[in-house]
Amino acid sequence: MTSTGARARIHLIAGARPNFMKVAPLYHELCRRDWAEPVLVHTGQHYDADMSDAFFSDLRLPSPDIHLGVGSASHAKQTAAIMVAYEDVCTATPPDWVVVVGDVNSTIACTLAAKKLPLPVAHLEAGLRSRDRTMPEEINRILTDAIADLLWTPAAEADENLLAEGVPADRIDLVGNIMIDSFEMMRPAREGDDTPSRLGLDGLRYGVVTIHRPVNVDTPEALASVVDALLATAEGIRLVFPLHPRTRARLEAFGLLTRLQAAPQIVLTTPMGYVSFMSLVSGAALAVTDSGGIQEETSYLGIPCLTLRDSTERPITVTLGTNRLVTVASLVDQVGEVLAGRWPRGSNLPLWDGRTAGRVADSLAARLA
Ligand code: UD1
Repeated sequence: MTSTGARARIHLIAGARPNFMKVAPLYHELCRRDWAEPVLVHTGQHYDADMSDAFFSDLRLPSPDIHLGVGSASHAKQTAAIMVAYEDVCTATPPDWVVVVGDVNSTIACTLAAKKLPLPVAHLEAGLRSRDRTMPEEINRILTDAIADLLWTPAAEADENLLAEGVPADRIDLVGNIMIDSFEMMRPAREGDDTPSRLGLDGLRYGVVTIHRPVNVDTPEALASVVDALLATAEGIRLVFPLHPRTRARLEAFGLLTRLQAAPQIVLTTPMGYVSFMSLVSGAALAVTDSGGIQEETSYLGIPCLTLRDSTERPITVTLGTNRLVTVASLVDQVGEVLAGRWPRGSNLPLWDGRTAGRVADSLAARLA
């Protein structure tokens, strides 16, 4: 409740695909709290049906209360357009709190706009650091955490990062990993899903591939090396590769798509919804990815994850989970290690228990009180 006794209006900001499964459990939890009025704000950073709508319906989210309709543009233009549109929304009807999640451009844009009004902002999935400032997400994380009022962290290593940057301890709350809440919330739907069968994978060992980071797809040289490594890997195992729109566009532009299409062991698909994709991952022998979230989901599931990056902002997936950083040059050998059974099994990850949304809501209630 607010000081006037009204329900607290809480904006939940969702912009891009990896935000939706972080917002959904918190939206559902806040709907159950009598002091809260959650308001879903979609920035429009992702707008394709299979990058956005599919996730809203899978995660049982209603249509956004507010849609900023911003769409794709360069980083500065996209961030600026979200800031301008979101400032108008907040000025017209100020929320009591703004909750941003993850590390996408929508995260920093709404944080900046809100903080200057000034409105209180909480960041869910705070404190992650790759220490690679060439990644736009790292810039978004550092800036968001520097100005948000309340930082909800997924793991103790994130608290340590924030404390080392001089963030006062009373702004940090260790709540656990919200993605696991979505995973558990959708368990019955996932268990009834037949995506692997529909893709002809029954009884087969297969790997799931997702690649979309600029460093891997934006130059012909980098993307050609990824394609070569996948073609070589597919000689040993069937690979299913749902193509992010950015990756598909680059594969076409660089004349590489036909090479993947011609490989009998590689199944290319459009981006999948949350339930289908998690069903696919749950049955996989391994994942090859440059995503952040998949490093976590595979660690939770105990499935080997080979991350095609030089760094990770989620080192706990390496120290306690099943994730290893690999290069295109080492991919075939590393997949061989997985198939030979020589891969860490991983262990339990503290507070990755499906109850993070409850802890977040309690933390917010304490601030409101
Ligand atoms: C964004 C996030 C990244 C996240 C990824 C997940 C930032 C800086 N990056 O990257 O952290 O891992 O989302 O997908 O916020 N496009 C479409 N349809 C869409 C969305 C995008 O076709 O619905 C195409 C557009 O051509 C666009 C390009 O994909 O220019 C890139 O989209 P953008 O949101 O800028 O970045 P992502 O690469 O998706």
